[in-house]
This record gives sequence, structure tokens and C-alpha cells, in this order.
Amino acid sequence: MASGRLWRRTALRTWRSKMTTKPFMTDIQELRRRARKHIEQGAVTPGYKADRDTVVRLLNEALATEIVCVLRYKRHYFMASGINAQSVAAEFLQHANEEQAHADQISQRIVQLGGAPNLSPEGLLTRSHAEYVEGDSLTDMIREDLVAERIAIDSYREMVEYLGTNDSTTRRMLEGILAVEEEHADDLVSLLEQLGE
Ligand SMILES: [Fe+2]
Ligand SMILES: [Fe+2]
Repeated sequence: MASGRLWRRTALRTWRSKMTTKPFMTDIQELRRRARKHIEQGAVTPGYKADRDTVVRLLNEALATEIVCVLRYKRHYFMASGINAQSVAAEFLQHANEEQAHADQISQRIVQLGGAPNLSPEGLLTRSHAEYVEGDSLTDMIREDLVAERIAIDSYREMVEYLGTNDSTTRRMLEGILAVEEEHADDLVSLLEQLGE
């Protein structure tokens, strides 16, 4: 009997100490109270840990990069000529469309964060990480695209590291885009190999 009572008392003490340690989740009343505050901020709640202005600025730079890439790939698509032009042009067009999809994803996220996508042609090249190089031959074009992809890969990687766990939605979106940019770079290397470069 005595040992049974002792066990119950120990169990009760353990349960009480568990209840008083900091809970993993914020109390539901507190979550509800916080959600009601600043509802005009939409998806951005007081629990948002990143620096929103910086994230929006970085996303606008990424948006400019994507648009410059769309324009460069489109130029290359229309200008591709020569014996190997058809398959290379098809690849350029596919990349252009995928960069456009990235630009749209990024714009949407900027709006969710309470910012505005900067789609002004003025200063576009200054905001962009990648350059707009036309290139004369097919191999020149592919090389320039490869350089631009490598720039994009590095800048997305840095953004992903910067965000860490402070804005996991933006980070996951950028990780998805990064994976596609890596595929693009890989495609371009294969094209150069096929052309014997
Ligand atoms: Fe892209
Ligand atoms: Fe790309």
C-alpha cells in the first residue's frame, strides 16, 4: 500500500512538472488573440520572424533576375540558327517559360508578404543579379545562359541560407526554384557537350 501511494505521488509530481514547463505550442487563446491583431497584414502574423522589408527587397531582386532571364532566353530562342538550332531553341523556350513561372511565384509571395512586385522596366538590369547578353553564335548563347544560371544558383542558395527557419514558406519556394535552376545549368552543359564544345 505504502509503495503504491508513493508511486502515485511521484507520478503526480512528474505530471505537474511537465505541465509547468514551457509548452511546445503557443496557448490556443494567445494564438487566436494574435491572429485578430493586425488582420490587414494577411499571411504575415506577429509570429513572422524574418525582416519583412529585407525579404521583399531580396525577392524583388530575384524577380528582376527571372525577368532578365526570360528576355534573354526569348531572344536566344528567336535568334537560334544553324544545323543544331531546332533542339537548342526548344530548350531555350522551355527555360524561358520556366523562368516566367518563377517570376510569377515570386511576385505572388511578395504580395503575400505585404509588398509590391517591382515590374518596372526602369532599373531592371541594375536590380537583376544575372546579365542580359545576346551572344552571336549558338554556343555563345548557351555559354551566356549557363553563366546566368550559375549566378542565379548562387544567389538563391544565399537567400535560402539567410532565411533559415525565419520564413520557411519563402525558403521552400526558393529551394524549389533553386532545384530548377540547377536542372537548367545541367541541360546547358549537356547542350554544349552535344555541340562538341
Ligand atoms: Fe528561374
Ligand atoms: Fe534558370
